[in-house]
Amino acid sequence: MKEIKKITCIGAGYVGGPTMSVIAQKNPNVQVTVVDLNQARIDAWNDADLDNLPVYEPGLDAVVAEARGRNLFFSTDVNKAIDEADMIFISVNTPTKTYGKGKGQAADLKYIELCARQIASVAKNDKIVVEKSTLPVRTAAALKSILDNTGNGVNFQILSNPEFLAEGTAVTDLHNPDRVLIGGEDEEAVQALVGVYAAWVPRERILTTNLWSSELSKLVANAFLAQRVSSINAISELCEVTGANVDEVSRAIGHDSRIGPKFLKASVGFGGSCFQKDILNLVYIARTYNLTAVADYWEQVITLNDHQKARFAQNIIQTMYNTVNGKKIAFLGWAFKKDTNDTRESAAIYVADHLLEEEAHVVVYDPKVSAEQIYKDLDYLGSRSAEDNRRLVTVVNDPYEAIVDAHATAILTEWDEFKSYDWARIKQQMKKPAFVFDGRKLLDRKQLDALGFDYYAIGE
Ligand code: NAD
Ligand code: UDX
Repeated sequence: MKEIKKITCIGAGYVGGPTMSVIAQKNPNVQVTVVDLNQARIDAWNDADLDNLPVYEPGLDAVVAEARGRNLFFSTDVNKAIDEADMIFISVNTPTKTYGKGKGQAADLKYIELCARQIASVAKNDKIVVEKSTLPVRTAAALKSILDNTGNGVNFQILSNPEFLAEGTAVTDLHNPDRVLIGGEDEEAVQALVGVYAAWVPRERILTTNLWSSELSKLVANAFLAQRVSSINAISELCEVTGANVDEVSRAIGHDSRIGPKFLKASVGFGGSCFQKDILNLVYIARTYNLTAVADYWEQVITLNDHQKARFAQNIIQTMYNTVNGKKIAFLGWAFKKDTNDTRESAAIYVADHLLEEEAHVVVYDPKVSAEQIYKDLDYLGSRSAEDNRRLVTVVNDPYEAIVDAHATAILTEWDEFKSYDWARIKQQMKKPAFVFDGRKLLDRKQLDALGFDYYAIGE
């Protein structure tokens, strides 16, 4: 078996950073270098103060502290790291295209292609190239073509090794994965990567497949997970008009071992950088092969999710006597889920956008998201001027400041700390009637009712 001594990962983001930190932690004899074009990001990974790491994940600071400087390095010298490596992971972003053919659906592979060209031009000896980014099925064929035709005549083996970690639980997911998936044609290369993971993952959880099954499985896993959320969210609307309670329905169906209890929590809508992007990608691929029924089927998962976000905002407006103009609405949470500072595709952004259209004054508190990021998210939508976003939205560092004199409080992220707030004090300080719209079903209805709130939760 080919022994791997040096690993390079291109892309020091939410996946590359944590994944390589754990690989280095568990393989102290392998030198792992994570490179990125973004100097600020690399500086943050190298910051002596572990509170300044660019990715917030519980437990990540301890992993970085253990391996950094020993066999884990962060650098912007991409060429040097490529040159030295036996194995190169590509973990760059693959966002939805915003231009040209496939705009709004297809994955934008420009960063992937740039990496392949750079690897090809720099490499002077044989390398194993690992797709860690989530990619459309058959991307490995394009990668192989670029590497083989622009390179220095060296031999490249391509593997697909999609990442299944979820943000907020990245370190535990990496330490204890349900499975590691490796797709490839060359058995020696596959076994070399199996060897890296076998340092801590039981062999029976390391699955090997052909390249195309591996690439496609990543899109399918995310599509199935998102589909469950949209399915329960569709039922939440039905619960609201029939007197059923969506948590009770989830519990009832989740006890069926064929259905299972996970991913049945109704919410204001799923967010994150993956679900929407990967389903759109799947839909685009299906359409490319003229599989219209398949594409239409999966597209509904997104349609329902958009509907869920819009109807949460609409319910706030309707309940508050059909006008929120000039009213202060406190947002608890902006991240797309708890325990992360990531806001990509967060439902909060779209709910805020609807309310701002109605000239509401939104005041946001999130324990991990900066004001700069919140304004960036709103500006990116292009719904109104940057000045108007700053006029209508205030970001505060103290939750009680958000809530004082608010006409309504909306819970957008399920941060644990929100549960332990002094809700009696909040009731006193809010305008009356004190409306609470719980998009995460986080709070205790009995407690809120007893305190005299007008409490609305999804699916009740
Ligand atoms: P990210 O945007 O956080 O990080 C990507 C990094 O790649 C950026 O820092 C960027 O500067 C860098 N980069 C881009 N082009 C480069 C180049 N040519 N050379 C050097 N650096 C370059 O993205 P992410 O969330 O880490 O996602 C990366 C991939 O992993 C995506 O394909 C995504 O779909 C997939 N994925 C993400 C998650 C997740 O939870 N975020 C989970 C599984 C899979
Ligand atoms: C997802 C996949 O879970 C992970 O395997 C993949 O590698 C990347 O995409 P992530 O997006 O980080 O991970 O978080 P996840 O826990 O899947 O949550 C996604 C969204 O769905 C969040 O907004 C979350 O709040 C929402 N969600 C999840 C629900 O609304 N209800 C649920 O029951 C579960």
